[in-house]
Amino acid sequence: MTSGPTPLSNAARLSVAPMMDWTDRHCRHLHRLLSRRTLLYTEMVTAPAVIHGDRERLLGFGDTEHPVALQLGGSDPAELREAARIGAEFGYDEINLNCGCPSDRVQSGAFGAVLMTRPDLVAECCAEMIAVSPVEVTVKCRIGVDEQEPETVLPHFLETVAAAGVGRFTIHARKAWLQGLSPKENRDIPPLDYDLVARMKRAYPHLHLSVNGGVGSLDEAETFLKAGLDGVMIGRAAYHAPADVLCEADRRIWGDPGTSRAEAAVRDMLPYIEAHLSAGGRLHQVTRHMLGLFAGRPGARGWRRVLSEGASRPGAGPELVIEALGRVEDLQQAA
Ligand SMILES: Cc1cc2nc3c(=O)[nH]c(=O)nc-3n(C[C@H](O)[C@H](O)[C@H](O)COP(=O)(O)O)c2cc1C
Repeated sequence: MTSGPTPLSNAARLSVAPMMDWTDRHCRHLHRLLSRRTLLYTEMVTAPAVIHGDRERLLGFGDTEHPVALQLGGSDPAELREAARIGAEFGYDEINLNCGCPSDRVQSGAFGAVLMTRPDLVAECCAEMIAVSPVEVTVKCRIGVDEQEPETVLPHFLETVAAAGVGRFTIHARKAWLQGLSPKENRDIPPLDYDLVARMKRAYPHLHLSVNGGVGSLDEAETFLKAGLDGVMIGRAAYHAPADVLCEADRRIWGDPGTSRAEAAVRDMLPYIEAHLSAGGRLHQVTRHMLGLFAGRPGARGWRRVLSEGASRPGAGPELVIEALGRVEDLQQAA
C-alpha cells in the first residue's frame, strides 16, 4: 500500500475541480495567472477519446499550466492503461480517474460514479494505469451511489483501490443518484457528509485525502486543512468567482509572499488572447471564463455586460477586454 507524501501532496492542498466545458485550457491559463500553486484539473476526457481522438485538441495544454492533472473517464483497464500512458507522455503531472460523475452518457459507458459499485474493477484499472504512468495516479470519487451505505462502502472502496497503489483521493462528500437526478441536481441535492470524509482521514492517515463539494471560499478551505484534511478541491466557486478563491491562495495556503490581482490577470491575459486569435480562435472562447473575475466588486456588472455582449461578435479582439477593464477601473476609482 502506498504511504507517505506523494509527489503532488503539497500542490493538492488546494485544487480547482475538473469541470466539463469549463476547465478547458483557456480557463486553466486564467486560473494559473491568479495562483501559481493551486493544482488544476482538466475536464474529463474519456479513455477511448484519448486513444482514438484528436490528441492535440483534447490533451494540448500550455507550459504555464503546471501543476496540472489530466482526468480520465473509463472502466476498461486496457484502455485506461493506454490513455494514462499517453497522458503522461503529454506531460501531465497527474492522471486522475473519474469515479464520481453521474451523467447518463457516462453511465452508459459504465464509468464515473457507477464505479463506486465496482471497487475491484477500479483497483484493476488503477493498477494498469500505475504500471505505465511515471506520474501519480489518483482517484476522484463520491461517498457512494444510490442505496449504498457510505459508512461501509467508502472505506471498502478506499482500501481496495489503495491496495492497488493509489495514495491520493479526492472525495466529493455526497452520494450520486444514478437514476432520477440530473447531473446538476446530483451536485446539490444529496446531502454533504463532510464528517465521513474527516473520519476516513483519521482511519487512513497514510492516504492523502482531499474533500470536495460545496466549499465556497478560501476561509472554508483553510478550516478543512486546519481540521486535518490533506487537501480541498473547489469547483463552482472557483469558476464563478476565481479571484475570490485564487488571488490569496498562494499566501494563505502555502505561505508565499504577495497576492495576485484580478486587474493584473486581465492584462496578463491579453498576449494569450492575441495568440489565440492569431491561431484562428474566437475571443469569447477565452473571455467566457473571465466573466466572474470581478464578482461582488464595483463594476462587475459592466464588465460582464461588455464581454458577454461583445465577445462573440466577428472580429472582436483584445480592445474589448481593455474597454471592459476600463469600466471596472473607472467605477472603482469613483467608489
Ligand atoms: C459544469 C460542471 C462540470 C463538471 N464536470 C466534471 C468532470 O468532468 N469530472 C468530474 O469529476 N467532476 C465534474 N464536475 C463535478 C465537480 O468536479 C465537483 O465535484 C462538483 O462541482 C462539486 O464541487 P463544488 O461544490 O465545489 O462545485 C463538474 C461540475 C460542474 C459544475
